[in-house]
Amino acid sequence: MKTILVTGGAGFIGSNFVYYMLKTHPDDRIVCVDALTYAGNLSTLEQALQNPNFRFVKADIADRDAIFALFEEEKFDIVVNFAAESHVDRSIENPEIFLKTNILGTQVLMDACRKYGIERYHQVSTDEVYGDLPLDRTDLFFTETTPIHTSSPYSASKASADLLVQAYHRTFGLPVTISRCSNNYGPYHFPEKLIPLIISRALADESLPVYGKGENVRDWLYVEDHCSAIDLIIHHGRVGEVYNIGGHNERTNLQVVKTILKALGKPESLITYVTDRPGHDMRYAIDPTKITTELGWKPQTMFDDGIQKTIDWYLNNRAWWENIISGDYQHYYEKMYQNR
Ligand code: NAD
Ligand code: DAU
Repeated sequence: MKTILVTGGAGFIGSNFVYYMLKTHPDDRIVCVDALTYAGNLSTLEQALQNPNFRFVKADIADRDAIFALFEEEKFDIVVNFAAESHVDRSIENPEIFLKTNILGTQVLMDACRKYGIERYHQVSTDEVYGDLPLDRTDLFFTETTPIHTSSPYSASKASADLLVQAYHRTFGLPVTISRCSNNYGPYHFPEKLIPLIISRALADESLPVYGKGENVRDWLYVEDHCSAIDLIIHHGRVGEVYNIGGHNERTNLQVVKTILKALGKPESLITYVTDRPGHDMRYAIDPTKITTELGWKPQTMFDDGIQKTIDWYLNNRAWWENIISGDYQHYYEKMYQNR
């Protein structure tokens, strides 16, 4: 039986990981630390909170005293760091909190790991650290040796954290792994991100903001496949290594939006082209050869099935996202889109 710290577990991927781990490793104890920022939602963890092997602690990963006290108390075996400011558009508006949480928060967690000892520290990173690929070179993919080349304050903060994690491994011998995944989608995805934003707005017959020409390409992975990859890496991945995660499900943003409209029976006339995101990355595409050959990982859900499952989830769990949309998020939406 292991005690596993999951940071950011009240957010999208972290919460899916909590549920995945409680299901696949029922004897392990999962402790979730989350600051419950605008993106964290305790109602997401309602079912987990019924499980005696789950504990929730509200804390900021950059709060050294709180984090060290928790490590002292819990004696973690494994730490998986999902906690982050994760939205590119917000990082363009206000980069500072991204540096604090994503870089300094990572440092505090690793300092605690050094002091109290752990088997593994895993950093959940992103394919955005590689920058982007041109649209007309579909033969190119991100591998683990693609140079770091960031575009937004968000991706720069994630890349900085990755470098720090590698430095703690080389200098202090901390047993680390890093995963860099492509765009996730699925249940509990916060409705400021493309897919849940389009589903929720289309259901309300509201205009659907597509940045630029909608030709940017993202490589979509169903969130449970990301969770299974991290589970494999923390148990079987080689210390000090980076693993890319992605399932070759590339779509243009316009394709994604049209797929959702078709599934919901809504008209394409809802699509509104708005001013592009500054520094907008053109194409992400992961080469998952390393994790496939070394750890035997394969995605279980392809985009056409995953998007239908996701739409069904949003239809069946309206209370979860309607609650978010009616609150602070509404002010956020007005601020971000009023001049576009
Ligand atoms: P999210 O924004 O939905 O959730 C982030 C969670 O972290 C929230 O619960 C929030 O309250 C918490 N948090 C933020 N600051 C914190 C702090 N200082 N201390 C403690 N908790 C804090 O993000 P997500 O989409 O679930 O992404 C999770 C991780 O995966 C991030 O590190 C992100 O960079 C990475 N990632 C995301 C994707 C994607 O497509 N969403 C893809 C690849 C990698
Ligand atoms: O690739 C992994 C990354 O994927 C993660 O590291 C990030 O945390 C995650 O937010 C996501 O970043 P993106 O910027 O790719 O995701 P987002 O949902 O914000 O946008 C997806 C694409 O859709 C992108 O090309 C911008 C476009 N978009 C987005 C929004 C919110 C629109 O056209 N209109 C919109 O309203």
